[in-house]
Amino acid sequence: MAMKLSLLALASSTLPLVQSETVLGVYIFHRHGDRTPKSHPPANLTSLGAEEVFLSGSYYRSRYVASDGSSPVRGLSHDVAVASQIALTAPDDAVLHNSAQVFAQGLYPPVGRLSAQELANGTSVEAPLGGYQYVPVKAVSASSASGASSTRADAENNEWLQGGSGCGNAMVSSNNYFASAEYQKTYGDSKGFYQTLLPVIGGTFGADQANFKNGYTIFDLINVARIHNKTIPSSDLLTPETVAEVQNLANIHEWNLAFNETEPIRAIAGSVLAGQILQQLQSVVDGKSKSPLGVQFGAYASFSSFFGLAQLQKVSSDFTAIVDYASSMAFELVTNSTTSPASKDDVSVRFLFSNGTAGAAGNVPVTYPLFGRTQALTPWSVFVDEMNKFAIGDTKSWCTACGNSTGQCAPYASGSSNDGDATTSSKSGKDSNGISTAVAGVIGALVTLVVVLGIEGLVYALAGLRLVRKSTLTGKVEASGASKA
Ligand SMILES: *[C@@H]1O[C@H](CO)[C@@H](O)[C@H](O)[C@H]1NC(C)=O
Ligand SMILES: *[C@@H]1O[C@H](CO)[C@@H](O)[C@H](O)[C@H]1NC(C)=O
Ligand SMILES: *[C@@H]1O[C@H](CO)[C@@H](O)[C@H](O)[C@H]1NC(C)=O
Ligand SMILES: *[C@@H]1O[C@H](CO)[C@@H](O)[C@H](O)[C@H]1NC(C)=O
Ligand SMILES: *[C@@H]1O[C@H](CO)[C@@H](O)[C@H](O)[C@H]1NC(C)=O
Ligand SMILES: *[C@@H]1O[C@H](CO)[C@@H](O)[C@H](O)[C@H]1NC(C)=O
Ligand SMILES: *[C@@H]1O[C@H](CO)[C@@H](O)[C@H](O)[C@H]1NC(C)=O
Repeated sequence: MAMKLSLLALASSTLPLVQSETVLGVYIFHRHGDRTPKSHPPANLTSLGAEEVFLSGSYYRSRYVASDGSSPVRGLSHDVAVASQIALTAPDDAVLHNSAQVFAQGLYPPVGRLSAQELANGTSVEAPLGGYQYVPVKAVSASSASGASSTRADAENNEWLQGGSGCGNAMVSSNNYFASAEYQKTYGDSKGFYQTLLPVIGGTFGADQANFKNGYTIFDLINVARIHNKTIPSSDLLTPETVAEVQNLANIHEWNLAFNETEPIRAIAGSVLAGQILQQLQSVVDGKSKSPLGVQFGAYASFSSFFGLAQLQKVSSDFTAIVDYASSMAFELVTNSTTSPASKDDVSVRFLFSNGTAGAAGNVPVTYPLFGRTQALTPWSVFVDEMNKFAIGDTKSWCTACGNSTGQCAPYASGSSNDGDATTSSKSGKDSNGISTAVAGVIGALVTLVVVLGIEGLVYALAGLRLVRKSTLTGKVEASGASKA
């Protein structure tokens, strides 16, 4: 408090020599750390993976949280975690949820003596584990969607929050990839290549499964083995060129499932994530949020879907690749204004991406321009307009864009008595001919919703990736299940 006052005094007594930027809020989307392979479920976070997300959490602490942080977020507690200030979410999945918990430990490590409290008899008691702090990770499970007794806020925390899971039109679109000439060509061209890998992967994949259809899981198996297995059968086959080709093919496979310029519904996971980012940051801009820090753990495919929608692949084709473990992207809400609250016109967004663990061996997040722009900073109003071109921010919009009308979506199906909700402008429709029309219809809805609801609840959203679920050994997109984490 004393320091704050003297800073204020300083600021008012001297002309600002260098304008210093204030970070009003941040939204971080994070991949989990190192894990065991997808082809041997259930996958678990490894100790190495825990180290990675812990280090990343420590990096973000040194940037946004610590009292000597490089870009401290205004109003965020420095050492003692205040649960209401942090909206931390993860799917109810051992790898992602555990990653989020460990990340929080890096952000707010044990406080030791700061946790000491004095009792009536004069004894001082410190919390266990050196003052370990419990930052709640809000979990959303796939099965939690059915609760009939949910409140309004909970009702928003439903199906659509899981990004692509069960989105009918997205599944159709992703399956279009498997039917495309381009997929068939890559499949044919790579057939011999995958067969040569059988001595390496034969313990898990049969000859009929060693093909591009399993491009991701084959890459994953080899990638995990190269990190963990002391011996790999026929490891001499894994030359740098071969390893690079395995990764390259997996990148092509996953990018095409996550994003397609002419079928934006395929990137539903990115659209839902965009809706969540907007809602969180909007509430900070409006001065309504008690949580300046939003952190969500999710899958690599959500990164890819978002990258595509935000046109990052035009900045660098590197963005069409699967991001490394413990990668993170951050959206900083920044201003040079000294008035509080800052006028919307003085607020901008800076986008940063760290490929792999932030803070590891000189790996720091790098700023990239969004939406095909050239400037590193995006003015808030432009950010809102651009995000709203693809963001999906409420259940009804999700149902409309996905063409779903049963289950969670039944209340929004055309003809339903609940269909007259005036807060959304999109018309429900089956969308058989115009996916982009449906998405476009959603655009106005989010803004309205943000205004109407104030959206604290929506912020807890979580959209894991779940663009589609692929059962491990087939390429067919199915309706529900494992996230592509
Ligand atoms: C992950 O952990 C579970 C429970 O401990 C275990 O059954 C499973 O075999 C582990 N998976 C791998 C791939 O090690
Ligand atoms: C003080 O109170 C605590 C909790 O009741 C107890 O564990 C401790 O032994 C007491 N200390 C003394 C010196 O009486
Ligand atoms: C949406 O529709 C698809 C196709 O009919 C279906 O497979 C999926 O389960 C539905 N999703 C939800 C959330 O109801
Ligand atoms: C979009 O997807 C369709 C079907 O999967 C495919 O034919 C087309 O080439 C894709 N477009 C781009 C730009 O990748
Ligand atoms: C790596 O080791 C695990 C556990 O022993 C095994 O299941 C897996 O098949 C091995 N991977 C390769 C590519 O040899
Ligand atoms: C992230 O790193 C992987 C290699 O590990 C690379 O293929 C990919 O292009 C990188 N992505 C970006 C955006 O730099
Ligand atoms: C704040 O001012 C500095 C110095 O002029 C500039 O580099 C930075 O981009 C500004 N930040 C914002 C959010 O306008």
